[in-house]
Amino acid sequence: MKIKTLNSLVAGLILVSAFSVNAAQPVQEKKVFISIDSDALKYTEKKFGSRVEEVQTTDGISVLKIDEDALPWLSMLMHKDFKRCGGFMLHDDETDAQNLLNSNEEKFYAKNNSFVSYKIDQEAIVTPMIEQMKAENIFATITQISAFQNRYYKGEFGKKSAAFIKDTWTSLVKNRTDATVEYFPHSKWDQPSIILTIKGQSNETIVLGGHQDSINGYMGGSSARAPGSDDNASGISTVTEVIRTLVDNSYQPQKTLKFMAYAAEEVGLLGSKEIAADFKKRNENIIGVMQLDMTNFKGSPDFDIVLMQDYTNDQQNKFVGAIIDRYVPGIKWGYDKCGYGCSDHASWHTQGYPASMPFEATMDTMNHNIHTANDTLNVSNNNATHAIKFAKMALAYIVELDR
Ligand code: BES
Ligand code: ZN
Repeated sequence: MKIKTLNSLVAGLILVSAFSVNAAQPVQEKKVFISIDSDALKYTEKKFGSRVEEVQTTDGISVLKIDEDALPWLSMLMHKDFKRCGGFMLHDDETDAQNLLNSNEEKFYAKNNSFVSYKIDQEAIVTPMIEQMKAENIFATITQISAFQNRYYKGEFGKKSAAFIKDTWTSLVKNRTDATVEYFPHSKWDQPSIILTIKGQSNETIVLGGHQDSINGYMGGSSARAPGSDDNASGISTVTEVIRTLVDNSYQPQKTLKFMAYAAEEVGLLGSKEIAADFKKRNENIIGVMQLDMTNFKGSPDFDIVLMQDYTNDQQNKFVGAIIDRYVPGIKWGYDKCGYGCSDHASWHTQGYPASMPFEATMDTMNHNIHTANDTLNVSNNNATHAIKFAKMALAYIVELDR
């Protein structure tokens, strides 16, 4: 699907006017599929009459079949009367347009449905475990993971760093018969995702994850230095401390717990997209997803944890807020928005699963060293005292959701 810009359409408008004036024969118009916000539907029908046909309207989005020649006019009218630039999306075919509506339905469901009746009553189990969690452990893991030249999704370093994370997780659960650590391979690139499963009594599943890959946004490629200490060695190391603590306490889950290190997030959420689609296809019953992407930079004086409201589930976000109030007292949390599908939670959300994305700061106080060779632990004062708050929150989230 393509988003038409006003410029390309104005060029089209000039062309269309030049040629259509002297058209002697009425020719069969070429039809195309577009989607627009439904508030412009009636207006468009009125302006274009039989040249436009409504195909389907769902959740405030309408798919229309329209004469291709009408597009420049539509764009101009949208700009003039709705103050929208372009104002519609052009689709390759009807299926492409339909997919947008379907994914919109999934997203609506993932945002608004209540998947669990949330409660907080596991203090006796959670509090002793939280007291054993250590920032020093997270710091040590970030140091190790950032030591790879990069963790780019293509090339030798991204493969080696994946193997390191798999080995680290495997050694944590080596004495458990109910746990496995597996690669989730991807056919289009070398870096695999990693999934650690602790099997519970039921097939209900809780997912805690983050992306393992890093990128140097300026130099790109598989050789540039990209330590990605904050983005996202911090998230992986936070997840690792949660696993360590649960295992050290021989925690036996009732539901199935899955810990994930996604590949290829930095190039378009590619790893998590394949995983979430696979889980959906197999009808996996996931009752909660938490994404940890950047946990170790305290950018905002006003907030310690910021819950992203877009591409996430409203009810679960409230629950996570209550978890923070109960189990990580004294820290301040709030809401913000990425404004786009900024991390792997969006892959789960798009498949209809309830996700949350607790983030280290507000968007305008975030760590600006990410995607550079300077995304190092120095920027976080060589400690992991911010990330440890996320580890406590995530462990409490898992145990409270599990029981
Ligand atoms: N960790 C970032 C996402 C992020 C950055 C969230 C700043 C909140 C504030 C993530 O790894 C990333 O860079 N995502 C991409 C998007 C993706 C679709 C390629 C981005 O934000 O450009
Ligand atoms: Zn990033």
